[in-house]
Amino acid sequence: MAAPVPHFTLNNGQKIPSVGLGCWLGQPGAVDTNGRNVKQALKDAIEEAGYRHVDTAALYQDEAEVGEVVRTSSVPREEIFVTTKLGNSSRESAEAVQAAFDDSFKKLGLGYIDAWLMHWPQGVSSKTGKAFGLEGQDGPTFGETWADMEKIYESGKVKTIGVSNFSIQNLETLLKTAKVVPAINQVEGHPFHPDDALADYCKAKGIHITYYSPLGQPLKRTDVLKDEVLAEIAKQTSSTSSQVALSWAVAKGRSVVPKSSRIERIKQNISLVELSSEQVSRIDRIHKEDPKKYTRLNIAAANGDDKTVFGLTLEQLGWDCGFLPLGFPGKGNTITSID
Ligand SMILES: NC(=O)c1ccc[n+]([C@@H]2O[C@H](COP(=O)([O-])OP(=O)(O)OC[C@H]3O[C@@H](n4cnc5c(N)ncnc54)[C@H](OP(=O)(O)O)[C@@H]3O)[C@@H](O)[C@H]2O)c1
Repeated sequence: MAAPVPHFTLNNGQKIPSVGLGCWLGQPGAVDTNGRNVKQALKDAIEEAGYRHVDTAALYQDEAEVGEVVRTSSVPREEIFVTTKLGNSSRESAEAVQAAFDDSFKKLGLGYIDAWLMHWPQGVSSKTGKAFGLEGQDGPTFGETWADMEKIYESGKVKTIGVSNFSIQNLETLLKTAKVVPAINQVEGHPFHPDDALADYCKAKGIHITYYSPLGQPLKRTDVLKDEVLAEIAKQTSSTSSQVALSWAVAKGRSVVPKSSRIERIKQNISLVELSSEQVSRIDRIHKEDPKKYTRLNIAAANGDDKTVFGLTLEQLGWDCGFLPLGFPGKGNTITSID
């Protein structure tokens, strides 16, 4: 049976369940850093915990496994919302974008894809390794890539197209040329990085926000789940800090895609609790009251000596990162390594 979580209606009328299973396993491929396989986790999620929303990407290298589980599960395919994403290395031409779509389509093997997102504003050149996507860089702009995605959308093989990791600045540019307004913008979001200004902007444009890393990637370097406000509200609501963080996001109208490969956590993460407006506001204030609790975590996913994220600077991404770990120029710099 489907878990009783809210659904949000996208700007094209499609409905997206508010909680999905994140299928980036902390490393490329179908096995996570705990040695657990995405196939078992997703099967448990769908059949035992009632998930009806799955988040994968070409980059995660597990689309074939995700597709197989959705195809062979006891739940009808049309009841499951499957998101995948266009990889940065498949952006050099319209043909490359089409080939990447065909590849994801074939690997998933589901007859159609529910949502296909541009994973990042930037692409990466196979020849030089350099990023492109902005005006004046050597390669298609993200607006041109979006136009390629719009053509594929017309084919009907994908029901919804959207973006990921887009700031207000880059959405403003995209919307100048887009014929189809993205239905989704998937961005990092949790109590230490709510990104409310972006969410307000997206709401005004009819773009739904999905939060990735909604628990703050607890295995890595964060203390989101150890936050005392979350712990206190968890106690008040007889739940856990994870449930509180996810319930808060959903109460604010955002869908969430937490990753877990453990059945007890998979079940916990889709058991939302009702929060009062006072509890929601208290969580809203966490990142404002302590500057170190306002931080972007996924910045470390793609760092490098040049202090860019997959080749774009923070200014080019339009990212306000708050407290910055890992030697990025800014307010933080106390954390010098990651697990
Ligand atoms: N669009 C993008 O650029 C982008 C970037 C990053 C992530 N994503 C998507 O977002 C998904 C989730 O993000 P994420 O994996 O970075 O971070 P996350 O979901 O915030 O955190 C995942 C970590 O939390 C642990 N965990 C899960 N449930 C828990 C619970 N109830 N209590 C305590 N710990 C718990 C998991 O460990 P166990 O598995 O051991 O439970 C895992 O280590 C990804 O899988 C991917 O689909 C998208």
